[in-house]
Amino acid sequence: MGDAIREVEDNVEATEAWNGPLFEIWIEYRDIVAAGFRDHGEAALAASPPHEGDRALDIGCGLGDTTVRLAGLVGPAGHAHGVDVAERMIETAIEEAAEVGIENVSFEACDVEMTSFERTFDYAFSRMGTMFFANPVAALRNVREALAPGGLLNMVVWRRKLDNEVMHRAELVVAEYLDEPEDYDAPRCGPGPFSMANADTVTDVLMHAGYDDIRLARQDLPYKVGNDLEHAVAFNMALGPAAEVLRMWGERVDDIRPKIAADLRAALADFVVEGGAVIAPASTWAVSARAPR
Ligand SMILES: C[S@@+](CC[C@H](N)C(=O)[O-])C[C@H]1O[C@@H](n2cnc3c(N)ncnc32)[C@H](O)[C@@H]1O
Repeated sequence: MGDAIREVEDNVEATEAWNGPLFEIWIEYRDIVAAGFRDHGEAALAASPPHEGDRALDIGCGLGDTTVRLAGLVGPAGHAHGVDVAERMIETAIEEAAEVGIENVSFEACDVEMTSFERTFDYAFSRMGTMFFANPVAALRNVREALAPGGLLNMVVWRRKLDNEVMHRAELVVAEYLDEPEDYDAPRCGPGPFSMANADTVTDVLMHAGYDDIRLARQDLPYKVGNDLEHAVAFNMALGPAAEVLRMWGERVDDIRPKIAADLRAALADFVVEGGAVIAPASTWAVSARAPR
């Protein structure tokens, strides 16, 4: 019982983070996030696409970019439904889809860990939207229960830190100066981007959530993190594991931010490509699994 209460508290905190400071950062860095995630999401969609006419669910859909993409893939006979715990993400997604007049798309603000879906889906997708659950088994069980027999889950999650050097280097730079503070006001985002990096762990989670035919395919693809070096430094100080530590410390560490920025500049300089953009190698899992037939 104590654990269940703790999980609900964790959810409340993560919701506060995604609907508050992380929503604002997500809007500010929207273009770079979309550019960085694009190749990884597209590769997973190409490997395990939805069928025309499918009813597709987009888990942790954020601003709905991938939901709109799914709506295009399933065509007018199909439908894409995006769900996200952050109401402000969903409000923006609804507004934007209405502006461009997409009819086979809908959005709903809900916590996937706490939701029994009323609809049935043939296909469930997520691009980096399943790593922040305090209780991933419960969340992915809710998704599995919403899938038709034989329905496919296709989710993209980060692989290990060592193969995702930008985030890892940024984390190491910040760790030179700061541990996580004991006292902090800023809400945390949940277990974090690397919580599904371990193949055994993610397989066990999916087995416990009742899936069959679990497969993990490694995707080594570029990850754009800045239009130039300054942009990449600012982005990594705003979003990701390094940024979360800075956010927890808040104004208390304003004096050392310039030193951290200078060290980050040096750490990320290796990834500046011709033309000035910062593009690094990155590695994700495309995880697929089926609801039992
Ligand atoms: C890294 S973002 C990815 C957003 C989007 N999939 C994309 O590719 O741009 C993670 C998203 O998961 C959402 N999220 C986190 N925990 C959630 C939960 N328990 N239920 C539903 N959505 C959740 C967050 O609000 C956030 O929008």
